[in-house]
This record gives sequence, structure tokens and C-alpha cells, in this order.
Amino acid sequence: MALLTSPRMSVVRLTQFTDPHLYGGEHESLRGVATLPSLNAAIAHAQTRDWPPDAVLVTGDLVQDDPAGYRHFRRVFSALNLPVLCLPGNHDEPRAMQRELAGEPFVLGGHVDLGRWRIVLLDSCIPGSASGALSAAMLAQLEESLAGAAGRHCMVCLHHHPVPMSSEWLDRVGLTNAAEFLHAIDQHRNVRAIVWGHVHQAYDSLRKGVRLLATPSTCAQFLPHADDFAVDPRPPAYRTLELRPDGTLLTEVVWVEKHSGGSSRSASSAA
Ligand SMILES: [Fe+2]
Repeated sequence: MALLTSPRMSVVRLTQFTDPHLYGGEHESLRGVATLPSLNAAIAHAQTRDWPPDAVLVTGDLVQDDPAGYRHFRRVFSALNLPVLCLPGNHDEPRAMQRELAGEPFVLGGHVDLGRWRIVLLDSCIPGSASGALSAAMLAQLEESLAGAAGRHCMVCLHHHPVPMSSEWLDRVGLTNAAEFLHAIDQHRNVRAIVWGHVHQAYDSLRKGVRLLATPSTCAQFLPHADDFAVDPRPPAYRTLELRPDGTLLTEVVWVEKHSGGSSRSASSAA
């Protein structure tokens, strides 16, 4: 397990980029968006605001079923000179991901301690399936990470959504054993937030004092509340997270508009 030291131990700042869906080809597109240029634009945008964070977080679908995309991922994220906390999504190829992203600055799973916070990285992928589940081993790892947090506040990260998104097609490909996962979370009083990707849209709610956050993709988005698959024309986005030593957090989804930077900022109450 990694222990990273933060130059600002009082507040931990993370930037989440999720679902970049990279290909081996630099100009290949998914749903009309060239995914590598779009990721580069999102990172460049983030670098103009409060940069650098203490680490960046990528919650799955690093590539679009194309292991050749990992070399672009490695090049782009290595250049940031920051820890890159990663977990896989249903479009990733786990073996290739482990091979291509071995070693620093990449952390692939487990947990990372930053200041007064513990960031837990879970693999919720089921080979060959768009939906997800946490294996018994992964649930045991979660339990161990939360039980051993030694007074730290915990943020738990995974790819698949553990609560319904009010979108029939998406809710068929969520976390199939969400009840087990949430039961495990409920056994601990130190979880402040659960963060995921997969749904390509912004979501922010509270469950039993735990902040639930989904983040739009750095490429194309899905239309919220749609029962059938539909693309949302909203632009690429990323999320900033400011984790405070008292367990509260401030977070913002930043939309990478061509001419203006729209964002939605919201603070949590103490969890
Ligand atoms: Fe995705």
C-alpha cells in the first residue's frame, strides 16, 4: 500500500479525470469525440486552475477496448509528475493495464494515504460484462482498508455506480452487488465519500452521511435520466476535490466549454 506525503497536509486536493476511452490511434473518436485530444484539453484546462493537486484519480475506462491506448495514457499522465491513482472499468483490459502502467507514478488498486485521508481503489469489473460486481476478495480488501484507516477519513473509488442513476439502460449495467458493498460501507463510520465513473454524467447526493459522486467523462456524456441510451451534447469535464482534515469536502465538476468554463461547486457538511 502506498503512503504519499502531501506538501499541504492540512488539505488534500485531487483532480479526477474519468472514462477517457483512449485508442491506439491518436485521432480515433467515440460518439463523435476524439478521445485523446479531448483528454488533453481537459488536462490543459485543469492546469490553468489551482494546479497541481496532490494526486490525480482516474476511475476506469482508461481505454476503449484497445490496449494500444495505454501507451498514450502512460505518456500523458507520466508527464504530470504527480501520483496517478487508477482503477479499471469495463472497457479496460486488466492484464494490459497492469503491464503498461506498472510502476510510478501509477497506483493500480489498494489504498493510498494522503494527509488525514485514505483513498481506497476498488476493481469492480466482471470480465466480458458491462455491469460490475465486487468479488469476495475485493470486499475483503475494502473491509481491511476501512478497518485499518487509523483515524483517517476514507474516500472509496470504483468504476460502477452503487446506487440507481434513474436511467433504465444504465441501471442494467451498474454494480450488481451494490447491497453488499453498501452494507460493508455502513459497518464503518469513517467513509466520507464514494466516487465513481462509468455513467458519463454528474451526480451528487448524500446517503447516510456519505457523499455520493459521479463524474462526467473527459469525452462524450450520457443523457441523465434517459431510459434508453442517449448521448448528452454536454462537453468533456473533470472533477476537483478538496478533502479537508475535518472530514468535509469541497468538490466541483468543471465542464470544458470551448469559450467559457461552466462549473458546479458544492460543499458537504461534516459527514
Ligand atoms: Fe466509460
